[in-house]
Amino acid sequence: MTKRIVVVVSGRGSNFQAIIGALQRGAIPADCVALVTDNPKAYAIERANAAKIPVVIVDYGAYATRELYEQALLAALKEQNPDLVVLAGYMRILGSAIVREYAGKMINIHPALLPSFTGLHAQRQALEHGVKLAGCTVHFVDESLDGGPIILQRCVRVLDDDDEDTLANRILIQEHIALPEAVRLFCEDRLTIEGRSVKVRM
Ligand code: GRF
Repeated sequence: MTKRIVVVVSGRGSNFQAIIGALQRGAIPADCVALVTDNPKAYAIERANAAKIPVVIVDYGAYATRELYEQALLAALKEQNPDLVVLAGYMRILGSAIVREYAGKMINIHPALLPSFTGLHAQRQALEHGVKLAGCTVHFVDESLDGGPIILQRCVRVLDDDDEDTLANRILIQEHIALPEAVRLFCEDRLTIEGRSVKVRM
């Protein structure tokens, strides 16, 4: 059955665009029923408009407290009745009510080979550590920071003359492959979480 997916972003939305492309090619059996953003200036809004995907703005700055913002975000998500929530460059830590509501139904893309380099500036952390391989991870979201069960990872070599931008750009190319692939696997019911592992049925 066609799944309902909601994508949540804070900014540019190039990963969202990669999902739109895969949906338009018929590569994922799903409808993107909404783009949800905490940022009224997010460029992703233009991408959603161009693809005729409804936009829901839950403006972080419009709420007096983080708790009120989280309540509004949860209400906005519930209204869409999603089978899958995709965090694609959502730059805030989610509160536990939302994480619990969507346990096993929410995935995130992180620009590092987890469990290394969680949190912000993952590519900078990788360079500073001197690793030779970097990459991206798509994982289920749990209450830990970037710590949920891993669905898939893709890696890139770190070059001697890389700076944060060149490395981030090379990783981003892999993100644009990994995230639509993980969404497809979820929407085709191929993923099973077993403890810390995600089994992928081929
Ligand atoms: C990506 O690198 C993603 O992994 C990270 O934030 C960036 C978002 O890029 N969490 P975009 O908005 O998808 O272009």
